[in-house]
Amino acid sequence: MSAPNKSFDPVEVSTLAPVYLDQQVTAALDAIANASDLDELKAVRLLHTGDRSPLALANREIGALPPAAKAEAGKRMGQARGAVNQALEVKTAELEAKRDEQILLTETVDVTAVSELSLRGSRHPLTTIQEQITDVFLALGYELAEGPEIEAEWFNFDALNIAPNHPARTMQDTFFVEHEDSGLVLRTHTSPVQIRSMLNRELPIYVVCPGRVFRTDELDATHSPVFHQVEALVIDKGITMADLKGTLDHFAQTMFGAGIVTRLRPSYFPFTEPSAEVDLQCFACRGASVDNPSAPCRTCRSEGWIEWGGCGMVNPKVLVACGIDPDVYTGFAFGMGLERTLMFRHGITDMRDMVEGDIRFTRAFGLGG
Ligand code: DAH
Repeated sequence: MSAPNKSFDPVEVSTLAPVYLDQQVTAALDAIANASDLDELKAVRLLHTGDRSPLALANREIGALPPAAKAEAGKRMGQARGAVNQALEVKTAELEAKRDEQILLTETVDVTAVSELSLRGSRHPLTTIQEQITDVFLALGYELAEGPEIEAEWFNFDALNIAPNHPARTMQDTFFVEHEDSGLVLRTHTSPVQIRSMLNRELPIYVVCPGRVFRTDELDATHSPVFHQVEALVIDKGITMADLKGTLDHFAQTMFGAGIVTRLRPSYFPFTEPSAEVDLQCFACRGASVDNPSAPCRTCRSEGWIEWGGCGMVNPKVLVACGIDPDVYTGFAFGMGLERTLMFRHGITDMRDMVEGDIRFTRAFGLGG
C-alpha cells in the first residue's frame, strides 16, 4: 500500500484513474461474456475479483488518498466492482441453467424401455433343509460325515448286518452297478456312512450324515428313485436310549417348534438292537385332532403323530465289525428321509414337485440367490 498522501486527487493515482478502471471493467465483462462453462467462469471470477485482481489492488489504494478524495474514488470503485459482480451473477445463473439442461438431457431415463430382467435361480429347499439339519448337529458338537454315492455292497449291507438273503438286497430295491458281481451298488441309504465313520474316526464319534440315496422306485407322488436321507451316529462310553430320545426330541424341536416331542415304536433294523420307528408329534395340531372329528388335521390325518424315521442302539455285531469293543462303547443311530420331512413340514403333496426343478416351486419357499 502507498504511504498516506494528503494532496493526491484520486484521478492522479494511476490505478484509480477512471480510464484504468474502465479498462479493467471492460476486460472483466469481456472475460465473463466469453466464459462458456462454470469452470471457466470460476477462473474469470478469481482473475478479476480475487484478492490479487487489478480491481482489488486498486481498491487498496483508496486508503492512501486524502479524506476529500476518498469518497469520490470509493464511489467509482463501487460502481466498477458492482458492474463486474452483477455480470458475474447474471452469467452464473445462465451457465447453471445451461448445465442443468445438459444434465437433464444426458441423464434421461426411458421409462418405457423394455427391461432385460433375468430371473435369478433359487436354492432348492432340499439343500436348505440339509444345511439346517447339519447346523443343528454341528451346534451340538457333531461333525459332518460324508460317503460315496456309489458304495461297496459290504458297507451298504454286510457291515450293517443286513444278511445276503435280506429282501432289501434284491434287484427290486437296489441299483447294482454293472457288472452284477462288481460288488458295487448305488447306496440305498445313508447308513453305510456310519460304518465308514466307525472305521475312519477316533472314538468317541458324533457325526451327522446327510446325502443322496437311490432305490429302484418309479417316480410318483410319494416315491422317487433318487431321494435324500440324514443319518446321525453317536458312539461313546455310557450312551443309552435316553440319549437317543433326548437327541431326537431336541432335533424335533429345532425343526418343528418348541415343545414338539418324538415317540419310539418298537421295530426291527438289522444294524440296531433294540430298534424303533421314530414318530413326530404332529406340529400342526399337537394331537388336538385325535378323536375330534370337528377339527380334523391334514398334516397327521388326525393321528396326532407322523412317521419320521428309524432309530436304535447300534447293534453290537456292527460295533465288532468295525473293531469297536461293545463292552466299552455303546451308541445310537437314527435316519430319516428329507423329502418326506419337507413334504409334511410344508404340506407338499407331490414328490415330483421336488424333482422337476421348476423354480416357481423353490421360490415359494422364499429362497433367493
Ligand atoms: N437306513 C434305514 C432306512 O433307510 C433308516 C434307519 C433306521 C437308519 C434305523 C438308522 C437307524 O440309522 O438306526 O430305512
